[in-house]
Formats: sequence, C-alpha cells, structure tokens
Amino acid sequence: MADVVLTEVHGKVGLITINRPEALNALNNDVMDGIAKAIEGFEADDAIACMVLTGNEKAFAAGADIAYMKDFSYVQNYKSNFITRNWESIRSARKPVIAAVSGFALGGGCEVAMMCDIIYASDTAKFGQPEIKLGILPGAGGTQRLPRAVGKAKAMDLCLTARMMDAQEAERAGLVSRVFPADQLMAETLKAAATMAEFSLPVLMMVKESVNQSFESSLSQGVNFERRLFHSVFALEDQKEGMAAFVEKRKPAFKNQ
Ligand code: CAA
Repeated sequence: MADVVLTEVHGKVGLITINRPEALNALNNDVMDGIAKAIEGFEADDAIACMVLTGNEKAFAAGADIAYMKDFSYVQNYKSNFITRNWESIRSARKPVIAAVSGFALGGGCEVAMMCDIIYASDTAKFGQPEIKLGILPGAGGTQRLPRAVGKAKAMDLCLTARMMDAQEAERAGLVSRVFPADQLMAETLKAAATMAEFSLPVLMMVKESVNQSFESSLSQGVNFERRLFHSVFALEDQKEGMAAFVEKRKPAFKNQ
C-alpha cells in the first residue's frame, strides 16, 4: 500500500503531501496520523523553519473519509477522541504551516486548510463545508474558523447550503491569502515559505503566536501580549543582527539565537 502521507525537504521547508488520490485525499486515521507524525518531525528538526501542507491537482482533501466513519458510534467517537487526537497536531504546530490548495478543500479538508496559518490556492480550488448534506455538521472547527475568516454572512451561507466557493471568491472573502495559476501554486508557495525560512526562526514563531493570540483574547490583552514579546526580542542576537544589518546596508545573517 502506498504511503498516504509523503514528506520532502526543500531547503529549510518541510513539504507534507496527502497522497490518497483514489479517494480525493479523504482524511482517515492513517492520513491524520501521517500528517501528525510529519509535523512532529519537522517541528523537532532545527534545520526546518516552516512547513507546507498540500494535496494534488484534483483535491487538497474532499473531507473526512465518509466510508470510514459512517458506522462510528457516539461512544466510540467520545472514547477515541475522534478528530481531536491526531487532527489537532496542525493547530499545535509552532512553526508556520502553509496550506497549498488545488481542487477540492471540502468539509474536513477545508477545516484542515483553515488550521494552517496561510492558505495559498490555485485558481482551480473549491472550498466548502458540505457536511449538512450528510446529516452532520462540521466537526474539525469549520463553524468556528470559517466565520472568523470570512464573517458570519458567508460562513452561514456555506455551512447551511453546502455550496462551494471558488478560489477567487475565497480570496475576496479573506479565506485565501493569494491565488496562483494551478501550475505555479507549488513554486510560489515554496518561494513564500523560503522567504519566511530566511528570517529568525524564534521571531517567526513569535509572530505566528502573536497573530494567533488575536483570536483568543480581547484587543487590550492581545496588544499587551504582543508588547511583552516585542520587549523580549531585544534579548535576541538576531534583533541586534537584523538592525545592524539594516544600518550597515547589508543582508542580515540570522542565527536563530
Ligand atoms: N470520503 C470518502 N471517500 C470520498 C470522499 C470522502 N469525503 N470524497 C470523495 N471520495 C471518493 C469517492 O467515494 C470516489 O470513490 P470511488 O471512486 O471508489 O467511488 C472517489 O473519491 C472520487 O470521488 P467522486 O467520484 O465523487 O468524484 P466527483 O468528481 O464526481 O465529485 C466531490 C467530487 C464533489 C468532491 C464528491 O466526491 C463529494 O461530494 N465528496 C464528499 C465531500 C464531503 O461531503 N465532504 C465532507 C465529509 S464529512 C467531514 O469532513 C466531517 C468533518 O467536518 C470532520
């Protein structure tokens, strides 16, 4: 059986590819365990600064695997902590994770993309939360992250009607950071990831943590959190190097210290 999750390293970028093309990358336990393992590995690797999660041209992921979960029971879901156990690894990653989305990102696929820090989409991408058609609701954060990304009006429309949103609409709505022609998506995503990877890794991680704090706190708490981090970065050699390099009109050489 082929590996359902593949990993590659591109410079300082860890690339994670979901590889179940025959099922439009439907997310079963093997896939989610594979993603969790890949993320844990790249998180622990000092040579990696950020990660890219992708699928194939036809599907990023068409959702949780329906055939796999159709006979699950309430007690089984509760006891095994279905969704929570392995899906949350993306959310707990401290290094940035970029979703590179082509084709379908539906249900759990859309939710996994939204767990990432940035979504870059190809012009073929289609996003949606069609769970209602199956007699269920989104279960991996769709009803929470989608309204935060696109607002109540569109989130309700998508979740209640099950319609799909194309890449252009998703970009206009604020779900997607940038849209690229399909054949350029991976090159452009790796280029953006490589740009991030050149910065100071602890600062990159702090920026991610601070932006995420804005979703978890009031404005004054969030600004205070940011201010504490801002004060603290002056203890880093990389801050001294970054500012010295600017003044001396040269490229900084960050040491992640
Ligand atoms: N789970 C399991 N298998 C899936 C799947 C899914 N989510 N999505 C697609 N597949 C399988 C199909 O069963 C089919 O397999 P076979 O060839 O063995 O029949 C194969 O992938 C290709 O799919 P289609 O023939 O359906 O392809 P299409 O191009 O005609 O349609 C589609 C594409 C509109 C995406 C359609 O496949 C579809 O509607 N998929 C389901 C989307 C969905 O409902 N996602 C939500 C899942 S529930 C969830 O995610 C819960 C949660 O919040 C965590």
